Amino acid sequence: MSALPSRELLASRRILVVGDVMLDRYWHGAVERISPEAPVPVVRIEREEERLGGAANVALNIRTLGARATLLTVVGQDEPARRLRELLHERDIETVLREDKQLYTIVKLRIIGRAQQLLRVDFENEPDHEALGEMLEAFAEQLPRHDVVLFSDYGKGGLTHIPRMIEMARAAGKPVLVDPKGSDYKRYAGASVITPNRGELAQVAGAWRGEEELRAKVETLRADIDVGAVLLTRSEEGMTLFEASGVTHEPARAREVFDVTGAGDTVIATLAVMTGAGVPLPEAMRLANKAGGIVVGKFGTATVSYDELAA
Ligand SMILES: Nc1ncnc2c1ncn2[C@@H]1O[C@H](COP(=O)(O)OP(=O)(O)OP(=O)(O)O)[C@@H](O)[C@H]1O
Ligand SMILES: [Mg+2]
Repeated sequence: MSALPSRELLASRRILVVGDVMLDRYWHGAVERISPEAPVPVVRIEREEERLGGAANVALNIRTLGARATLLTVVGQDEPARRLRELLHERDIETVLREDKQLYTIVKLRIIGRAQQLLRVDFENEPDHEALGEMLEAFAEQLPRHDVVLFSDYGKGGLTHIPRMIEMARAAGKPVLVDPKGSDYKRYAGASVITPNRGELAQVAGAWRGEEELRAKVETLRADIDVGAVLLTRSEEGMTLFEASGVTHEPARAREVFDVTGAGDTVIATLAVMTGAGVPLPEAMRLANKAGGIVVGKFGTATVSYDELAA
């Protein structure tokens, strides 16, 4: 894979990641009895695990590849927000966190007993107007120091001002990549690339039977919302890049598949880093597909290093 830029070049690239962050928590314990209060198991916690999720995982992927990442988002004023700050600092990710007193920092807590998930508890609500406004101001400040802007939309409300942010990024001549969510893609107008997966694309464009119909649907969508390119990630089918100049497909490269969660984050992170280093989109896609193939073969760590991508 000769097109991989040097480590030095990647180290000089700065990616601004904007989006919804999450803290993934896993509480592992032993189930010894049924509660006397209600017919539910009592779990005695023996071990805790925490991982960066959502846009924070995207930032981590960028950093692991050797580029610089700044994470811009809204968090609450709570214990998970402090924990996120610590984890991001440990991983050498720069942060611009706007605080919202009434916001629950998003946490997905899994309670695991007897090696099975017993319950998942989600903490989340929508950030308020004021915090989102502050985020927009911070975006304007951060934009000039970055080479590429990446929006990681998990549909949690942190990207309310995305149309304005894309407009600003474009005016500044920065490439814009979006991992989309939901059914309104007009808000991504002006983006250089969007990276839906199959389910996300079907939600906005409808289901397709065969490659020809898929191509027609994506072309309609691409023209309709005005984005430069659509990179469809297709799990075991690899990925397909739809540009005005044509369509490029890459088959999946995974040898063994252990854990597919977070593959989409790795893909868009790799794409952003390569774009920042001046790699043309079809070649950046090949590298992103390779990274996706590597990450699904790992258990736990959802990141890929420069050396792994170079191998
Ligand atoms: N089962 C698989 N076999 C081989 N490669 C895979 C598989 N699943 C994912 N990949 C690789 O990862 C890429 C992204 O996967 P996918 O299309 O599932 O993204 P996603 O649904 O956004 O992922 P997630 O939201 O779980 O992070 C694929 O294009 C492919 O390169
Ligand atoms: Mg995804």
